[in-house]
Amino acid sequence: MRTRYGRSQMFINWREQKIVAGMFELIERPLRRILDVPSGHGRFTPQLRAAASEGLVCGDISVERLKALVDAESVEGPPIETVEIDLFKPLPFDTGEFDLIFNFRFFQHIKREELRDQLIEELARVCKRYMIVSFYEKTAIHSWQKRYWRRAGHKRTMPMPSREQFFGLFEKQGCRVMAHRGVIPGVHAQRIVLFEKDNQIS
Ligand SMILES: C[S@@+](CC[C@H](N)C(=O)[O-])C[C@H]1O[C@@H](n2cnc3c(N)ncnc32)[C@H](O)[C@@H]1O
Repeated sequence: MRTRYGRSQMFINWREQKIVAGMFELIERPLRRILDVPSGHGRFTPQLRAAASEGLVCGDISVERLKALVDAESVEGPPIETVEIDLFKPLPFDTGEFDLIFNFRFFQHIKREELRDQLIEELARVCKRYMIVSFYEKTAIHSWQKRYWRRAGHKRTMPMPSREQFFGLFEKQGCRVMAHRGVIPGVHAQRIVLFEKDNQIS
């Protein structure tokens, strides 16, 4: 049978979902409303929907992806709302509207620091309590790899902050790290972080 993803992508997908499931164990319920941005075509929709007691909002800039997401979902379960959204603009949601914000595989694509910082501020604004976020972490092996690729003539590099730098950006917005895991430690740069917002600060 032909599959949409290669074996390595399927393994990474499995690891990501397993880590996210582990993080859900650490989170206090109920989670009334969850926001998944960007949702893509809904890789995490079943997992997030199962956790949301009142509803899941999925936002993405791609209308086609949002349509694919809805088409793939069952009619059973809490309602799903889809929103066409540009994450580089102010989010069309109220302050503290969502118990959990889910932001996956997006930060590594943001090249400009001011856009990254602005997005973190907006995610923290609409967040009531928890955030699960993934990012590509700069480690010694990846710095070496980047230097090698550049010497070999590759121009495109992904923006990769260190773990401390990335956590610091969220701490500035009153979000503390509850847990973090590497998707495939030592091999894959992606790290998944669970933050809790300290509502005493903001
Ligand atoms: C790598 S996919 C990740 C999707 C999903 N979070 C996942 O892990 O499967 C990146 C997604 O970002 C969306 N995207 C790109 N630029 C965007 C923007 N400015 N605002 C909102 N979504 C955007 C793309 O349409 C795509 O679905």
